[in-house]
Amino acid sequence: MPRRSPRGKPYHKPTNPNRKRGDERRSTRSGEHVPVMLTEVLTTLAVRPGSVVVDCTLGFAGHSGELLRAVGPTGKLIATDLDAANIQRVEPTLTAVGHPFTLQHSNFAALPTVLAQQGISGVDALLADLGMSSMQVDDPERGFSFLRDGPLDMRMDRNRGRTAADLLNTLPVEELAAAFRDLGDEPAAEAIAAAIVAQREAAPLTRTAELTRLIEQAAPVRILRGPGQPPERKQKLLPATRVFQALRILVNRELANLQQLLRILPDILNPGGTVAIISFHSGEDRLIKASFRDGQLAGHYDTISDEPVRPTEDEKRANPRSRSAKLRWARKCGPKAC
Ligand SMILES: C[S@@+](CC[C@H](N)C(=O)[O-])C[C@H]1O[C@@H](n2cnc3c(N)ncnc32)[C@H](O)[C@@H]1O
Repeated sequence: MPRRSPRGKPYHKPTNPNRKRGDERRSTRSGEHVPVMLTEVLTTLAVRPGSVVVDCTLGFAGHSGELLRAVGPTGKLIATDLDAANIQRVEPTLTAVGHPFTLQHSNFAALPTVLAQQGISGVDALLADLGMSSMQVDDPERGFSFLRDGPLDMRMDRNRGRTAADLLNTLPVEELAAAFRDLGDEPAAEAIAAAIVAQREAAPLTRTAELTRLIEQAAPVRILRGPGQPPERKQKLLPATRVFQALRILVNRELANLQQLLRILPDILNPGGTVAIISFHSGEDRLIKASFRDGQLAGHYDTISDEPVRPTEDEKRANPRSRSAKLRWARKCGPKAC
């Protein structure tokens, strides 16, 4: 059974005959961020001209560009991002669309303040595409990737908060292990945390390459060969990917920010308004699923996605970053209540 969007439409590719396969990338240039499940987001939110729409996670404006086209000259897009560099980078792209928008360097957890400053009392659609963008991962100076040596920073907002190095060099061993286990699903969490603490007694950790080396020593990857074993490339992802993910979530307080967003959503959405959230981590997906279900039971939402919407096989092939993405949505009760 194909999944259906809040208005009962199936998720399908646009039928515009002039729009070719791969055109969904047109808001990005080569090597930059490709928006995940763009068609599914647009089908879910079904933005009408004149609507007020929030994109909580602007990134490279892959989703924002299309949402801005959809609101038209009488609507408005408000987009936030923790990363000030994104705001400057995408402003000209959105200006070229020619419809009203506001960009705000802000945490989406502070959306009520952002909207109040704009004089907006409610929004018709809201998108959050969680996690980090390809530009953040690709920039070694940000410290997000174990594949590129750089300072252990990992802050999305470079103006505030503690860096990954701060946390690695000061947190008790139990807290590090708990983060690697709970936020990274890392089986060797204790061994890796112990290796970090032993190393920092000699000298503080400062570089991603040092951390990667420690992880590889504490949790060596055993390459399994033979029939039925996954290919080497897949097996090698493991401990460094998981530990870097856990640290990024910890540094940016990603679960706390998401919980706050989920809490304020029913007050932000207009009656009949729709929220769509894309997550890449099982802990985030569990929070979203539980919050939408509780919101439905409490009479805030009239319809919620039963199962998450997933990228198509074509998208997963074209954009491997999309592989673990899950989109869930909820629609706030209309003016006549639920
Ligand atoms: C996956 S990217 C979004 C990509 C965007 N949808 C696109 O297609 O170009 C996630 C973005 O959200 C931002 N972000 C993460 N947590 C945030 C938060 N709590 N508040 C605001 N922005 C946040 C990150 O800085 C990053 O730019």
